Amino acid sequence: TLKALAPHDLTGQKILITLGPTREHFDKVRFWSNPSSGKMGWSLAMAAWLRHARVTVVHGPVNLTFPPGVDTIGVNTAREMFDACMDLWPDMDMGCCTAAVADFSPVPHGRGKLKKDECPEGLCVTFTRNPDILKTMGEHKRPDQRLIGFAAEAEVDLQTTAKAKLTAKNLDLIAANRIDSDETGFARWNNSVLLLDSQGQSEHMLNRPKIDIAWRIWDWM
Ligand code: CTP
Ligand code: CA
Repeated sequence: TLKALAPHDLTGQKILITLGPTREHFDKVRFWSNPSSGKMGWSLAMAAWLRHARVTVVHGPVNLTFPPGVDTIGVNTAREMFDACMDLWPDMDMGCCTAAVADFSPVPHGRGKLKKDECPEGLCVTFTRNPDILKTMGEHKRPDQRLIGFAAEAEVDLQTTAKAKLTAKNLDLIAANRIDSDETGFARWNNSVLLLDSQGQSEHMLNRPKIDIAWRIWDWM
């Protein structure tokens, strides 16, 4: 099989991967989210699984399937993803956060469905900050654990923002990509990333299949 042919260099490694968007509900039928497909996280999970790691995926709402050998935990909200990851992280060797976690949640209207006549002048929604899953994992990281993050940036200076997030979240490696690129990024099978590690080494991968980027990231680790 393909798995037998792949290198076994992640044998025994317990790896936690977050992927997909989160959904932050405003009322029974409406939520705040983003178009993340989970494909980058799926690629990392597949690559690690092929290399004989023990992979646990915590995912938001996505249309993806995983082989039976990969443990999956489905969640909806950032808070649920946070709780699942905090539970799992102490038992892991590596963590890799690719999820497009909503930074804010609307204060819910209630359990029902908002009627438009309740807001004849228009609707103002208040949002509260969500916990930063990756940052909290970084704060609790032991010397024997490794942590990988992603960064989605609209700014031009990818290097500076990526470096800042690498340091602020206590990461070993960060993969930064621009969100303004047409061919790559959100919901595509290709991506362009800048890989940057805590030792100061860096590498650009331009318009490459996400599975190749995933493979390179595990080589690096
Ligand atoms: N992340 C997370 N939990 C959050 C927000 C982000 O785990 N609540 C993780 C993402 O999975 C990603 C990394 O943090 O690996 C960076 O996410 P990004 O949105 O690029 O950066 P933020 O730190 O949220 O800052 P900002 O959106 O303001 O640029
Ligand atoms: Ca964010």
